[in-house]
Amino acid sequence: METIIETIIEGQDIQNQQKIETAAKILREGGLVAFPTETVYGLGADALNPAASKKIYEAKGRPSDNPLIVHISCMEDLDKIAVRIPAQAKKLAEHFWPGPLTMIFEKQEIVPAETTGGLSTVAVRMPDHPVARDLIQAAGGYIAAPSANTSGKPSPTRAEHVALDMDGRIPMILDGGAVGIGLESTIVDFSEETPMVLRPGYITPDMIREVIGEVWMDPGLVEEDSGIHPKAPGMKYKHYAPKAELILVNGAQEKVQQAINYLTREAIESGKNAGVIGTDESCCGYHYGIIKSIGTRNDEDTIARHLYGILREFDRENVDIIYSESFSTPRIGQAIMNRMLKAAGHQVIEV
Ligand code: TXA
Ligand code: MG
Repeated sequence: METIIETIIEGQDIQNQQKIETAAKILREGGLVAFPTETVYGLGADALNPAASKKIYEAKGRPSDNPLIVHISCMEDLDKIAVRIPAQAKKLAEHFWPGPLTMIFEKQEIVPAETTGGLSTVAVRMPDHPVARDLIQAAGGYIAAPSANTSGKPSPTRAEHVALDMDGRIPMILDGGAVGIGLESTIVDFSEETPMVLRPGYITPDMIREVIGEVWMDPGLVEEDSGIHPKAPGMKYKHYAPKAELILVNGAQEKVQQAINYLTREAIESGKNAGVIGTDESCCGYHYGIIKSIGTRNDEDTIARHLYGILREFDRENVDIIYSESFSTPRIGQAIMNRMLKAAGHQVIEV
């Protein structure tokens, strides 16, 4: 199958609308289209068409028990796919939709088991990206979309990343440029008594508490080594992983730099191709291997935005081992570290 890449160009409203209509037609006919959202690129299919949803699992090589997120473009469409929507969830929607928030509810009959990985619940998000919103509306209102990467790879934050993973597997990619956030949405489960965060993201537990009061963290996230399985099936897989081995180094900045310089030199001497992830502030202090800045500690959003792209760059450069600083900053730092620890298979050196 040939994969067509259509680029959305600012100012070309009529042409853009035509491209989105062509993509929507593919979706309505049961095909797959990759499209930009504000978090990461999604791999879309008609969420109410079981055969279409199945194609997503094939294209990604995704385990069939890992449910998809259904994307909507207006509030009225929520009731058609979800039941028992608590007032607190409506409040969160008012605050954060459209945006990087996914909520889980009991599903309506109309949502096929193929979309929810056999679960009786459905995850729903209203994205805040003009291309995504226009596409959802034109395609009939409900697009099931996981991140548009091959299962296990870092999520795509540019159309080029999607093309690397999906070329020849899907008919179309809509290229809307680099995404704004760079990490997948926050997931909050409303299918049980107390709302619970199943995946951290740009919208933090504190931001949620400000709107609805109490929210729990999935205990499987808080202590990942505790043997408690996270509730979101996707969170149990080794995920977001680059080809290279990734090792995080945590501690006081000066010690971290010393340790990383020592470790990279040692790796290179033993014949390995080594990489370093530092920041705009620290990169000049590293001396060995391929050194990359992930962003600035003065604006943690830049770190979130560049994480997956950097991991993919190291893959392209055939790096064997990456040593990275750690980023346990407040706010989005929790989501950044959640993804980094997974990519590192929890290998952390404390210095
Ligand atoms: O930002 C995002 O959420 C992106 C963009 C494309 O919207 N999508 C995304 O989808 O990250 P995906 O499939 O890569 O991650 C969805 C996560 C998985 O961990 C999955 O297990 C969980 O959501 N999930 C989906 N439905 C669920 C349900 N009914 N119950 C529990 N977890 C669910
Ligand atoms: Mg994913």
